[in-house]
Amino acid sequence: MYKKTGFHFDVRLEKDTNKIKYLSKNENLSFKSDIDSPNKNIKNQLIIGDNYDALKNLLINYRNQIDVIYIDPPYGKDDMGQFAETNYNNAITRDNLLSMLYPRLQMAKQLLSEDGVIFCSIDDKNQAYVKCLFDDIFGENNFLMDAIRKTKSTTNDAKEGINIQHESLLIYSKKRENVSLLHGEKDFTNYKNPDNDPLGTWIIADPSAKSGTKENNYFSITNPYTGTVDYPPEGRFWCFSKNTVQSHIDSGRICFKKEVNEGERGFIYKRYKNDLRTTKRTFDSLGFVDNLYLNQVGTKELKNLNLVDFFKYPKSVNFIKEIIDSCSHKNAKILDFFAGSGTTGQAVLELNRDDNGQRSFILCTNNEKTEMNPNGIAYDVTSKRLKRVMTGECYDGSNDFKWIQDNEALGGDLEVVDISECDDVVDFNEMSPFELIDETLYGLDKFENIADKIKWVCENFKFTMKSLDEEHSSNSKENE
Ligand SMILES: C[S@@+](CC[C@H](N)C(=O)[O-])C[C@H]1O[C@@H](n2cnc3c(N)ncnc32)[C@H](O)[C@@H]1O
Repeated sequence: MYKKTGFHFDVRLEKDTNKIKYLSKNENLSFKSDIDSPNKNIKNQLIIGDNYDALKNLLINYRNQIDVIYIDPPYGKDDMGQFAETNYNNAITRDNLLSMLYPRLQMAKQLLSEDGVIFCSIDDKNQAYVKCLFDDIFGENNFLMDAIRKTKSTTNDAKEGINIQHESLLIYSKKRENVSLLHGEKDFTNYKNPDNDPLGTWIIADPSAKSGTKENNYFSITNPYTGTVDYPPEGRFWCFSKNTVQSHIDSGRICFKKEVNEGERGFIYKRYKNDLRTTKRTFDSLGFVDNLYLNQVGTKELKNLNLVDFFKYPKSVNFIKEIIDSCSHKNAKILDFFAGSGTTGQAVLELNRDDNGQRSFILCTNNEKTEMNPNGIAYDVTSKRLKRVMTGECYDGSNDFKWIQDNEALGGDLEVVDISECDDVVDFNEMSPFELIDETLYGLDKFENIADKIKWVCENFKFTMKSLDEEHSSNSKENE
């Protein structure tokens, strides 16, 4: 039994009304990209609106199906004076923050798959409170760790001798026994260094993998000494691209044999222990060695997309890539329901590009309007960023941004949806709200008759609400 401390909830921020909120496609902002890349034909979604309604809708189709959730909520501020310093209008008090997160985390838990993991960035001041809330909802047993990320390296703001250079990353599983962060322990006993290689201990690794594409990962490699020509084994691909072969040769990762016996491959592929993510970085100090995940890195990334004037303090793409890669497979569904500038979307797309994955993302951000983004964050930043990195072009067809000079467009499809609402009246544009929802959201042929449709919609909406309450009361009982 443990005692709950420190919680102060504001009165419930969302009132359940009779209005039904549903997702409706925004045709103007949605797009498909025909760029040939591992992301091709993968459907991703950006939901514009309050994540409370978005999560309720997502529960209908994605209950127990999301592999990774990353959230970066607005941090609670202690007093109104600090509101002005934040970049979004809805800068909130801590009590607001806790009250807002509470029902959303309950829904997030229901969306997570049985081996799913949720990550939450949070600052030093709010960490303790938000951790208690997570403990309450996910259960202390499911707490994996509180990793810290280095946010900056400057010291000139250390007026009082205190210079906070990190923030927290709370990590929880849905079921701890199902999760292996950083893909579990590795056995390093077979890593040796018989040739005194300056890069350290290594093993001979399989240079082929099941995943890959014919265009990028199927080609011949010729041994310059013996002329032996190798292709990937049947049904497999090289686990590197043509472009990286030369750098692997230069770095000594691909070593050609001077003599090749019948049936042997003409080269060996060395995997160094130092190349393994598990040893290169650990989760308790993200970016402290290499400054890879500083806030300024994320800012530079937005600058390269010509969006830096519209959004402050985005996370860095590599930070989110590290998180996703640490705990999920290549087909993972990733959700970020405080998506802000859309860093998580870009991270998913880049991971697929890097390892031929088939991951997809669902992002949600409200369309908060600030002086920086008069049309709202979703319109001025999130959708524009995704359009630029996925297609290599802006919505108006121009491509006057630096990122595209250094990168190839990442590809993939984006469905942008708004949260629409209809009154719970029988006659809405000559349709019942259920017909409207069904037609808009679920397609006309899902049910044979209107009675079934109504029953289904009612049950699903009610179920969501009911299980929220049940979840709450059973958790409270467990913790008593
Ligand atoms: C700290 S920012 C996230 C930044 C993001 N990680 C990035 O890299 O750009 C939090 C975002 O959540 C959005 N937000 C706040 N409350 C929300 C809500 N109730 N529903 C949806 N989005 C919300 C804010 O507009 C803000 O853009």
